Amino acid sequence: MEKSNLYSAVQPTNNLTIGNYLGAIKNWVNLQNDYNCYYAVANMHAITVRQTPAELRQRTLSLAALFIACGIDPEKCVLYVQSQVPAHAQLCWVLNTFTYVGEMERMTQFKDKSAKHADNINMGLMDYPVLMAADILLYQSAVVPIGKDQTQHLEIARDIAQRFNNAYTPTFTVPKGVYMKSSAKIADLLDPSKKMSKSAENPNGAIFLHDDRDTIMRKFKRAVTDSEAFVKYDPENKPGVSNLLTIYSVFADKSIEEAERDFAGKGYGDFKLAVGEAVADKLAPIQSEQARLLADKAYLEGVLKNGAERAAYTANKTLQKVHKKIGFYL
Ligand code: TYM
Repeated sequence: MEKSNLYSAVQPTNNLTIGNYLGAIKNWVNLQNDYNCYYAVANMHAITVRQTPAELRQRTLSLAALFIACGIDPEKCVLYVQSQVPAHAQLCWVLNTFTYVGEMERMTQFKDKSAKHADNINMGLMDYPVLMAADILLYQSAVVPIGKDQTQHLEIARDIAQRFNNAYTPTFTVPKGVYMKSSAKIADLLDPSKKMSKSAENPNGAIFLHDDRDTIMRKFKRAVTDSEAFVKYDPENKPGVSNLLTIYSVFADKSIEEAERDFAGKGYGDFKLAVGEAVADKLAPIQSEQARLLADKAYLEGVLKNGAERAAYTANKTLQKVHKKIGFYL
């Protein structure tokens, strides 16, 4: 049977956290044999917030290296940088005419980011979900592996696809979001009611993928738990402990029940130590592989050039169809 297409992307902003890894990238690796995968470094999304040019360029390459270091195989998947495929901007423009201003104003992320960057509420920030819809729809993607915080954006991509399909004839595959069962929303270590974020106000609440062992151990040691002294998965009443159990279970490749059993009768001190060790053990080889890849710039650039060509081939086929349907002079 013909494999379906799959699409996802990460912004090269700030430093990635284990939330990005557990909520998205780890799933990408699991899915790469079952789908035709397109994985992008979303640098066009990144500029909706002011970036330092040299840093953005460096982070773009660094994120591509990280994808490979995490286990994405660039032979199997199309790995590329969003801005290297002009069809994204082109389709975004067309889709803008199928999107209502009111819908964009209601987006949670737009409201959050507007509050955070009150001095720079630019049109791109508002248009962000439409560009994301263009990303997904260009590749006729059936599935989109993401964390829970992207659900609203995926919903709007589905609405736009259906709207366009209804206005003309079926053109876009209507995508479906897929989530990691337990880790679609990793919480901040210091405030479990918030998601762990790349731009966390207090960096001690987030484990960054580049953190060294000592930093990782120190941050887990300080993680917020509760006043009961037993390890049990109960997100309602024990959000801090449950978040740590989730992190442990995925990094140690165990089910939540197995993880609970590992800590039966143990105190929070031992528990936090074990979580830190499981995370540090898994991240160390990823970090050294990323560094090795970054030292081989010619290889990385080759991968991205090839990826952009393969991505453009698929994207342009969809764009051509769209332009024809809307009556552009071809
Ligand atoms: P970004 O760069 O903010 O995050 C990348 C991925 O990580 C997930 N994620 C989390 N998952 C679990 N727990 C957390 N604490 C956590 N924090 C982040 C996000 O849900 C996301 O899947 N707009 C997207 C990038 C993008 C995209 C796309 C994604 C651009 N075009 C097309 C899918 C399809 C973003 O900003 O992700």
